[in-house]
Amino acid sequence: MSTQMDSNRVVIFDTTLRDGEQSPGASMNLDEKLRIALTLEEMGVDVIEAGFPIASDGDFESVNEIAKIVTNSTICGLARAAVGDIARAVDAVAPAERKRIHTFIATSPLHMEFKLQMKPEQVLEAITKSVSFARDKVDDVEWSAEDGSRSDHDFLCKCVEAAINAGASTINIPDTVGYGIPTEYASIFEMLRNRVPNIDKAILSTHCHNDLGLAVSNSLAAIGAGARQVECTINGLGERAGNCALEEVVMSLQTRQDVMPYTTGIETKHITKASRLVSTITGFTVQPNKAIVGANAFAHESGIHQDGMLKNAQTYEIMTPESVGLKKSTLVMGKHSGRHAFNEKLKELGYGLGDNAVQDAFKRFKDLADKKKDVFDEDIIALVDDSVVRTNDRVRLVELEVSCGTKESGANLTLEIDGEEKSCESHGDGPVDSAFQAIKTLFPTEATLQLYQVHAVTGGTDAQAEVTVRLAEDGKTVNGQGADTDTMVASVKAYINALNKLLVKREKSAPAAISA
Ligand code: KIV
Ligand code: ZN
Repeated sequence: MSTQMDSNRVVIFDTTLRDGEQSPGASMNLDEKLRIALTLEEMGVDVIEAGFPIASDGDFESVNEIAKIVTNSTICGLARAAVGDIARAVDAVAPAERKRIHTFIATSPLHMEFKLQMKPEQVLEAITKSVSFARDKVDDVEWSAEDGSRSDHDFLCKCVEAAINAGASTINIPDTVGYGIPTEYASIFEMLRNRVPNIDKAILSTHCHNDLGLAVSNSLAAIGAGARQVECTINGLGERAGNCALEEVVMSLQTRQDVMPYTTGIETKHITKASRLVSTITGFTVQPNKAIVGANAFAHESGIHQDGMLKNAQTYEIMTPESVGLKKSTLVMGKHSGRHAFNEKLKELGYGLGDNAVQDAFKRFKDLADKKKDVFDEDIIALVDDSVVRTNDRVRLVELEVSCGTKESGANLTLEIDGEEKSCESHGDGPVDSAFQAIKTLFPTEATLQLYQVHAVTGGTDAQAEVTVRLAEDGKTVNGQGADTDTMVASVKAYINALNKLLVKREKSAPAAISA
């Protein structure tokens, strides 16, 4: 086992599918998780934390399915310090070529007294028991000291030593509540390296939350102090203010090699695609001025900047848009483009679709090219993503007619529900409300609308609208997407997509999920 000081290689541990998904409203279905996992693998993520298998049957299934299809990344399942949790995680990751169990327990006085209601000695005992149990089942065990950054240093040293003695090869010190500041957080890593006798047998790991906006800074400080694994999420997705953003930490390391000579296995040109995928699936939009992946991250509007850029791009650009996979909007093709060219474009955009899916996407591309003069890469991405989300649907859109304006608004809607066509007319407060009322009339549910979001895929008034709708029912949330040049059609598609996901969730209905 390599030690944390053997090399300057930093292990990238992505927890978008576990800590990221714990973000209220960010729940994803199996298919979406598989797509994200494959994208992370393609990107070169070392460890994918795929879920918390004891939390629900759905979580178990997604970790298990991801473990079956991902071969290059290690698949990790989270477990509390309990035999039942660990056994379930072991079963879930079993099919993976490379598997890891990540077990945790809180070590701060506050968490031990009020949350766990355990004495420090009991916590120490639980660490040895849980890590040993996990280590008996798999070779790769990570142990986390939940709320580690607010733990007593002497006690933390004892816990870390016990975890390593019991067989943990990665030791993670989370800043669970995002309270730490860089110098202070880094000093914990230095302290552990100086005081824990067996520390050279494990890799130290950072896991930072962003409550004070310091998650990336804290992670980088910890790396400087000897951590060689960083836990992060795409777009910084995560509970409350989120987690350390993968794209920010990776691009910081890559861009500032002069002061941080550490390497990762990430192929950074996949960053933009991964960011868009996670944002589309969760409905969590990326703010325009977000570092690395925001729409304005590489935009130079001011005259002085543009002039400098034209003379030498390095005047205002510390990394190139191409390095994160951002390409200039390219005119793809028009309505005369053939199937072969379309297929090549899909491959260039990173889609590996089967014959039927290509055929379907090509037909939709032709329809779009009839309506829209210029078809861009972004249009193709929206179009393909839109068709991928619409398989095996019980409810389908057949026809929609909407009237709106200064007088009354209304919608005439025909849906196919379980193979049977049903129509109705509805009136509401504006066209969106009218159309959504019509859906509810044809397919009544108790679901409440939590989010309705419209995004223009490209510029121009003929741009496709990409709509996200979030529905909630019995504490479960789902996100639906729809894209079309007609905003109302996109809206109805998004609502119906969410509805179909809700129906699947109902079928798989499980007890309330546990979260870490
Ligand atoms: O933030 C945290 O402490 C966690 C642990 C479960 C690793 O997510
Ligand atoms: Zn966390």
